[in-house]
Amino acid sequence: MDLSELSPPYVRSISPYQPGKPISELAREFGLEERKIVKLASNENPRGIGPRTRAAIDAAIVDIARYPDGNGYELKLALSKRYGVEMSQIVLGNGSNDVLELIALAFLGPGRSAVYSQHAFAVYALATQARGARSIAVRAADFGHDVEAMAAAIDDDTRVVWIANPNNPTGTMVPADRLEAFVRRVPERVILVIDEAYNEYLHANLRSPTVSWLRRYPNLVLTRTFSKAYGLAGLRVGYALAHPSVADLMNRVRQPFNVNSLALVAAAAALDDMEFVARSYAENLQGMRQIEEGARALGLEWIASYGNFLTIRVGRAQEVYKRLLRRGVIVRPVGGYELPEHLRVTIGTAEENERFLGALAASLRE
Ligand SMILES: Cc1ncc(COP(=O)(O)O)c(C=O)c1O
Repeated sequence: MDLSELSPPYVRSISPYQPGKPISELAREFGLEERKIVKLASNENPRGIGPRTRAAIDAAIVDIARYPDGNGYELKLALSKRYGVEMSQIVLGNGSNDVLELIALAFLGPGRSAVYSQHAFAVYALATQARGARSIAVRAADFGHDVEAMAAAIDDDTRVVWIANPNNPTGTMVPADRLEAFVRRVPERVILVIDEAYNEYLHANLRSPTVSWLRRYPNLVLTRTFSKAYGLAGLRVGYALAHPSVADLMNRVRQPFNVNSLALVAAAAALDDMEFVARSYAENLQGMRQIEEGARALGLEWIASYGNFLTIRVGRAQEVYKRLLRRGVIVRPVGGYELPEHLRVTIGTAEENERFLGALAASLRE
């Protein structure tokens, strides 16, 4: 018997998410020393975590035999104070990826459709497909979201619109005025997800006042993460802000203990460490300039980015990717995003960026 036939056709046709190659895997494959490998493939924070967050994790380890607080009271309280929302408007997730899945679980299914952009974050297509819903992928404009075309693509079956602002892997951003015009055009029966995983990397003047829009647009869901500027990718914690009724539906399909206890305390501590986030922002900006200058010196083009990564056109990207791997540098090919000539590099420390640029120059000469 062909066991793959046991699942519905829409599950069988999913192509799995391709994560960045782990350091340990590259070390095994090429016989390299792990400490000499530079990984700039998953948009993680090269600064690690701050001392206060570290202390909170250390203090929580003694209670690891107990289940976490399934309602995440302390973290929700901290988030509600920070953003001026009710605790009933917050949904916590095992990374914001989990929150995206909860949206798909709660609002999608066979006979329904979801709208997203070409080159948008891969999880939107995956989460849509896994629920047997139909995908409506809208052509990008200048690598970014064409929100006018997205609004026009909404059909009678549409229940979710996914939009990443800034987007991964292109780094493009829809400015506040255009975004709000779009929010206004999305019918109330459609959940509009604005995924703000890279929000903290935007200059304060460029951030859309999306939290204040929640009061006016009950179908709006914002998702954010502690994996990027807060440096907690390995612990897995993210959240959604939404109307209480929408949050309630998402909580009904959530696993009771979806966020682990270390993640809960670490996120609450990290949220308080404003200086760490401010430095992450500033160092990212410097690193971005360093990589842009290096790319310019190599005669390469890139997509202007508002995130903590840069997507650079290198030509035969798969080949260049492999040459970089042999030099101990892991970046992300984005052929699966219909960008076969680009590689996405995460902004690292100044030293890591230098290693990447040196290895890139050598790989292009090879
Ligand atoms: C746009 C976007 N959304 C969501 C995520 C998910 O991140 P996490 O599950 O670690 O919060 C990512 C991760 O790269 C992302 O780029």
